[in-house]
Amino acid sequence: MSAYLIADAISVTYANGVEALRRFTLEVKRGEFVAVVGPSGCGKSTLLRALAGLIVPSAGQVRLDGHPVTQPSHQVGMLFQEPALLPWRTVEKNIGLPFELGNNASRLPPGDATWLRRRIADLIQLVGLSGFERAYPRELSGGMAQRAALARALVTEPPILLLDEPFGALDALTRETLTAALEGIWRASHTTGVLVTHSIPEAVFLADRIVVSTPRPGQVSGVVEVPLPRPRAWEMERLPEFVEAMQTARSLLRAACCATTTAETGRDVTARAA
Ligand SMILES: Nc1ncnc2c1ncn2[C@@H]1O[C@H](COP(=O)(O)OP(=O)(O)OP(=O)(O)O)[C@@H](O)[C@H]1O
Ligand SMILES: [Mg+2]
Repeated sequence: MSAYLIADAISVTYANGVEALRRFTLEVKRGEFVAVVGPSGCGKSTLLRALAGLIVPSAGQVRLDGHPVTQPSHQVGMLFQEPALLPWRTVEKNIGLPFELGNNASRLPPGDATWLRRRIADLIQLVGLSGFERAYPRELSGGMAQRAALARALVTEPPILLLDEPFGALDALTRETLTAALEGIWRASHTTGVLVTHSIPEAVFLADRIVVSTPRPGQVSGVVEVPLPRPRAWEMERLPEFVEAMQTARSLLRAACCATTTAETGRDVTARAA
């Protein structure tokens, strides 16, 4: 199967001269879930912004289904670390918001409010927020707010879902629960997923493939296949495939970080030997 979403050797240098990504290549097949792990500041959010068409790379190109991506598109749903719900809107009104914005507004045929109401109701059930349709964001826990934000990201049925550390701000247990819920929701929604995260277990749990990045400027340091069946469950953590994928990703990450530290400072090796 040929790739559906491609970052083809993209480099991003910001106006302040910071080189965030250097010739980063990522190929995601239709229906695949790919995780990108890397140290803080290595350019993960930059990569997602480029995939979403929010920034244009200084070199290289992002392509979706063979077409260059040069601006934000309704084909992409995004979920960030902070749910960013509008505090004056209920859960259901927040979920419906994308249909009131930009290009998406015109995608809803006039009089199709019934379809939208049904879609929102289905999503509320899918993300496990039944009974909270009329609740305001201040009445939700962090995990519930992130569930609502996930439903909002999916409401336009985007073929691509980009997730930027979506559970980073949550406690460990809620994070595990939501990771498992996300796996089910992703399967049910038939989207192509790209997740960036610091968490290797989360990447292994969710992904078909993990791309490990070097520290900034982000470059691909290696790729790990995750040969675990779906649906996934945390009990799989003990399976040899899970353990091996974790270890491979971890050593790639360590090797990449170590190589940069040594090359950049030249002092680290001496310090450790002493
Ligand atoms: N708008 C911007 N202007 C200038 N520099 C930026 C901008 N956004 C990010 N950077 C810089 O680019 C580098 C990569 O940032 P990015 O946010 O992509 O990293 P990240 O891997 O997502 O980090 P984290 O894991 O902490 O979220 C950082 O050094 C950051 O300071
Ligand atoms: Mg980030």
